[in-house]
Amino acid sequence: EKGGHEYFMLKEIEEQPEALANTLRGHFADGRIVLDEQRLADQDLREIDKVFVVACGSAYHSGLVAKYAIEHWCRLPVEVELASEFRYRDPVLDRDTLVVAVSQSGETADTLEAVRHAREQKARVLAVCNTNGAQIPRESDAVLYTHAGPEIGVASTKAFLAQIAANYLVGLALAGARGTKYPDEVAREFHELEAMPEAVSRVLGTTGHVRELARGLADSKAVLFLGRHVGYPVALEGALKLKELAYMHAEGFAAGELKHGPIALIEEGLPVVVVMPSSKGRATLHSKLLSNIREIQARGAQTIVIAQEGDETVRPFADHLIEVPAVSTLLQPLVSTVPLQIFAAEIAKARGYDVDKPRNLAKSVTVE
Ligand code: M6R
Repeated sequence: EKGGHEYFMLKEIEEQPEALANTLRGHFADGRIVLDEQRLADQDLREIDKVFVVACGSAYHSGLVAKYAIEHWCRLPVEVELASEFRYRDPVLDRDTLVVAVSQSGETADTLEAVRHAREQKARVLAVCNTNGAQIPRESDAVLYTHAGPEIGVASTKAFLAQIAANYLVGLALAGARGTKYPDEVAREFHELEAMPEAVSRVLGTTGHVRELARGLADSKAVLFLGRHVGYPVALEGALKLKELAYMHAEGFAAGELKHGPIALIEEGLPVVVVMPSSKGRATLHSKLLSNIREIQARGAQTIVIAQEGDETVRPFADHLIEVPAVSTLLQPLVSTVPLQIFAAEIAKARGYDVDKPRNLAKSVTVE
């Protein structure tokens, strides 16, 4: 059932193009995004004036990615909260707030409690979930299922990519309902998303050198991950994968924060993974990251740079260059996360660990 793979996780990494395609399928018709279950009127969506995304772990990272898209498309303020923190604050919610609860299992205790808290405050709740009929979708006003298929490996891979796609559909549904995007613009964004399974397949076809690189770094004490904009949550996700699978100290940082502390960690030979922004996107973002790489390389770090094919400007600063297909800025996490998953799995294997069942972790965390 591992389809010739040594571990479920490796099979699930390979299944990502299909997971994305299945998550998108059937969700666009007549210029509109269609949800799976909508116990909300379109009018309710039009009245939304604030969005919270609540989730844990990788699902939380998918929310951080979505914030950039939803704010951009919908002109709505979006806050992304760890579910375990959300209800212990006193979040300001009312019936015009949309709470998006993202959960692969649909049973995560903190996320479920966040949903219940939101509903008590009369907020509308939309679940993004990979498990049909789980508790979180059952208690929500609307549901969008990620059709990633069962995810057995404890480390989330295909569910994470599917969550990003589904969160984007939520953003497009809101933008369409609220009129901040015309139907043809919604269609264009949707069709760009539809091209992503192919782009992810291309990444999967070119990862031999990532594996080799990972094996060479298996004895490192720590690895840092840097990114900006949507590359920042990708950096957090890369670090989480490495922690949970390889039991290695790994930290993700917003590259702009380097000078505010983390640069003090840089020392000779320290591997630092840098997630370059799309070269198709804003030039300033790209040039800021380039100067960050220069700074860390000058201090002796070993730079591992994930950049888009044809981005020649990074080559002189990359001790190791990992190329991914050129896609637009918001879609970049879907391609740049994949090498990080492979990187973490390969280091873990080289260290002799079971990547499907990392120590101390459960697939679904049903206690708070
Ligand atoms: O089932 P959920 O999506 O609610 O789970 C959330 C986290 O527990 C999960 O993403 C966890 O962080 C993964 N092990 C990360 O790989």
